[in-house]
Amino acid sequence: MLNSETAPGVGDIPPETFRAAAHRAADLLADYLEGVGRYAVLPPVRPGEVSARLPAAAPEAPEPMETILEDYRTLIEPNVTHWNHPGFMAYFGITGSGPGVLGEALAAGLNVNAMLWRTGPAPTELEERVCDWLRQLLGLPEAFKGHINDTASIATFLALAAARERSVPNVRARGLAGRPELGLPTVYCSDQAHSSVDKAMIALGLGLEQLRRIPSDERFRMDTSALRAAIEQDRRAKRNPIALVATLGTTSTTSLDPAAELAEVAAREKLWLHVDAAYAGSAAICPEFRAGFAGWERADSIVTNPHKWLFTPVDCSVLFVRDPAALKRAFALVPEYLRTPEAGVTNLMDYGIQLGRRFRALKLWFVLRAFGAEGCRARIRAHCALAQAFASWVAAEPDFEVCAPVPFSTVCFRAVPDVSAREQDAFNEKLLEQVNATGEVFLSHTKLRGRYVLRMAIGNLRTTEGHVRRAWDALRNADCGMRNAE
Ligand SMILES: Cc1ncc(COP(=O)(O)O)c(C=O)c1O
Repeated sequence: MLNSETAPGVGDIPPETFRAAAHRAADLLADYLEGVGRYAVLPPVRPGEVSARLPAAAPEAPEPMETILEDYRTLIEPNVTHWNHPGFMAYFGITGSGPGVLGEALAAGLNVNAMLWRTGPAPTELEERVCDWLRQLLGLPEAFKGHINDTASIATFLALAAARERSVPNVRARGLAGRPELGLPTVYCSDQAHSSVDKAMIALGLGLEQLRRIPSDERFRMDTSALRAAIEQDRRAKRNPIALVATLGTTSTTSLDPAAELAEVAAREKLWLHVDAAYAGSAAICPEFRAGFAGWERADSIVTNPHKWLFTPVDCSVLFVRDPAALKRAFALVPEYLRTPEAGVTNLMDYGIQLGRRFRALKLWFVLRAFGAEGCRARIRAHCALAQAFASWVAAEPDFEVCAPVPFSTVCFRAVPDVSAREQDAFNEKLLEQVNATGEVFLSHTKLRGRYVLRMAIGNLRTTEGHVRRAWDALRNADCGMRNAE
C-alpha cells in the first residue's frame, strides 16, 4: 500500500541535505568567481585525462552530496576552460555575471518548461517583457517582438525558415523537392558571415549551393553593388532570391555590413532581411554606437546574444521579429494534447522548432536589473576602451600591425617579422601557441584575406588594463625564433 509519506529510498534528497549542499554550492560558486584568475585559462589537461578519472559506470548505491561536490571541486572545476577568467580573450570574451548565475540557478530550481503560457505563466510573460526592455535599450521600433532561444545559430535558422515560408508557396506541406517551377530559393550574405548561415541552409533543405557569399570591401563590409549584381544575375537565371543576411559585428573582425543600403536592396527585391548581431548587438544599448547599426530597424528579424556581450550566462539569444505571425506560420502546430483554453496568450512553442523551453528570461532579468542600463553601458564602454588601448599599443610597435578596424572590443592583429608571408603566418601561429601556454591569457585566431591573424576579444567583466598589458607583454616577449631584431 502506498504511504502518504515518501517511502525510504525513494523521493528527492531530504530538504535539510539539499539546503546544506546548496549553501556549499553557493560558496563554491562565490569562491570560483572571486578566484578564477588563479587558474590557467586553458586547463593543463590532456585529452582523455578527465575521462580516465571518472568511473566507467554510474554508482549503484547513493553517494553523499559532500562527496559529489568535492569531486566537482577537485576534478571538474580545475579542468574546464575558464571562460569567466579575466585573461579569456578568445573567440568572443563573455561573462556569466553574478546576477546571471543566480538567475540561472533559480531557474533550475523552478524547472519550468514554458512551452505553453499555461505551463509557465510568469516565465512566458517575463520573457516577453524582458525582450521588450532589451528592444527599447537597443533603440529598436516597437514593432519588433522578441523571444529567447539558446543560440544565434538557431535564431538564424528560424529567421530563414520564416523567409522560406513567406517566399515559397505551400512549403510546409509540399517541401521543396520535385518543384522545379519554384526557381531555386537563394539567400545572400557576405563572405564574412558566420557559418550558422551555412548550417541553416543545410538544415532547411535550401542547400549550400543556394547561399551566395558576397565579397566584402577593404573594411570587411558586404559590397552592396556586388550584392545587387548577384541578385540580378540570379533573377536572370530564374532563381528565387528569398533572403538577405546582414551581419552587424562579424565574427572575425566585428565589421558592420552597411545595413541601411542592404535594407534598401531587401525592400526593392522583396527579400527577408535578417540581421545577425549576435555579438555586437549589445553595443547598441550605447547611443554612441548606434550609427553603425543604422538601417537594422528596417529588418524583418534581428538576433543578438545577451550570452555574448550582455553578461548573461550561456545560453541566451534573443530573436526579434517584426511579424511574429510569420514565425507562427512556419512553425505553429498544436497537437490535441497541447491544446489549452486560454485565449490571446503567447505560447512560446509556436515560434520555433523545440517544444520544451527553458526559463532563460530570469537570468537576463537579473542582469538588467542588477547592473541597470547605465551599468551595462558602462561595462561595454570599458571593454571598448581596453580594446582601443590595446590597438594603439599594437599600432605603435613596428614588429606588429593591426589588421582591421576596431569598432567594438575585438582587435585583429599580427606580428610582422621580416620574412615571407608564409613564414609570417607560421610565426603568428607559433606565437599564439606560446602565449596561450603561459596560462595568463587565451587568444584565438582567424584568417583575413587568406592570412593568419590573431584576435583579442575583450568581454569579461573581470578584465582590467593590467590583464591586457600582461597579454601584450606575453606577445612581445614570446620567443618564436624569428624576431625582426635577429
Ligand atoms: C556573428 C555571429 N553569428 C552567430 C554566431 C553563433 O552564435 P551561437 O553560438 O549563439 O550560435 C556567432 C558566434 O560567435 C557570431 O559571431
